[in-house]
Amino acid sequence: MFPDISKLPTPESVIPQIDKALRTIFASAQTRRDYPDAGLPEADMSEAEKRHAAGLMRINHSGEVCAQALYQGQALTARNPEAARALLEASDEETEHLAWCEKRLNELGSHKSFLNPFWYAGSFALGALAGALGDKWNLGFLAETERQVEGHLDGHLSKLPDQDAKSRAIVEQMKIDEIKHADTALAHGGAELPGPVKEAMRLTSKILTFAAYRV
Ligand SMILES: [Fe+2]
Ligand SMILES: [Fe+2]
Repeated sequence: MFPDISKLPTPESVIPQIDKALRTIFASAQTRRDYPDAGLPEADMSEAEKRHAAGLMRINHSGEVCAQALYQGQALTARNPEAARALLEASDEETEHLAWCEKRLNELGSHKSFLNPFWYAGSFALGALAGALGDKWNLGFLAETERQVEGHLDGHLSKLPDQDAKSRAIVEQMKIDEIKHADTALAHGGAELPGPVKEAMRLTSKILTFAAYRV
């Protein structure tokens, strides 16, 4: 029994993936919409408050790096062209989130997570795996991811310094978008994931949260 080599990745299909990965990790993302914090004044914050806000925005940035990889992996394997198109549309908004978080991190005098290549690789593999299980589970995984991200963003709104209106405006707009992404995934036939899978996803995001806040 020989493997079907027509299904193996070709250089033509792999090179754009590598290009996307390198751009996500090392280049600056662009936004088509205005920055949600445009026009808001910079808050007066202590060094500790700035460090804390930067830690939270770094978690959000790394979450968006994961979203890029996840969507990339899923779009690559999605069978239904309509689902693949919806995934790519949402992925464009995730690129904007990436740009917003990166700009805010710069303004706070901080840096992106050094572990981003690791988050990207892990999420790409998870996305491709979910995609290989078929659209129903692929989209279900996506909807659950977006719901968990929304929960995180909600938590960050209560943890960010009160006066940091700029970070808050970014997180609030991201939350609106993530809710829409979850709805889109469900509208395209996403299934409810089994409880233990949801738990495993929560555990994974706790590891990211812990590490990205620090490095
Ligand atoms: Fe996002
Ligand atoms: Fe999203």
